[in-house]
Amino acid sequence: MSKIEPSAQRLFFALWPPSSVRAQLEQVGRVVVGKKGRAVAGTNLHLTLVFLGSVGQAGRQCMEQAADTVRGERFTLEFSQVGHWSRPRILWLGPKETPPQLEALVTDLVRALKSCDHDPDPRPYQAHLTLARKVSRPAEVASIEAIRWHVDRFCLVESVTAQEGPIYRVLKYWEFIQ
Ligand code: 2AM
Repeated sequence: MSKIEPSAQRLFFALWPPSSVRAQLEQVGRVVVGKKGRAVAGTNLHLTLVFLGSVGQAGRQCMEQAADTVRGERFTLEFSQVGHWSRPRILWLGPKETPPQLEALVTDLVRALKSCDHDPDPRPYQAHLTLARKVSRPAEVASIEAIRWHVDRFCLVESVTAQEGPIYRVLKYWEFIQ
């Protein structure tokens, strides 16, 4: 395991919703989450592609260069499923079927990150957008009217711990080639 530098940042690759999609996700989130658990702040809603954890300067440079080699393809993500995982106690929104372009994007990113000392998550990728944490029971609804998101780029995000909770900040975007 690599040493943690004082300048290390907590990073992850993600899909960051454009404002119109974010507004719809926030609205649905308010209804689905209600008073349960701790709702994710609207400005933080995102879909994680690859969680990187604490990364030093050289590691970040390597990971950005790895991302430069990834050629994504545009796709439409349709959020219609409401899910709950009891172990991490999260309530989430996800697509009924993960678009193959999204699977390919994650696979290609993970493969490219191998050269950067990145330990990939051994669990299969499950596309989900966390709406709330510390939720012990599933939501009353299992599906919603689909929210469509035309995805044409991915990004690197930093998670900063603030008193009021984490704040996510996009550091860089990569536009899809086609
Ligand atoms: P989530 O995808 O279930 O919401 C930043 O912490 C983002 O990376 C969150 O979206 C978070 O969970 C995701 N993530 C994935 N693996 C993680 C881990 N081991 N620790 C913290 N966050 C992780």
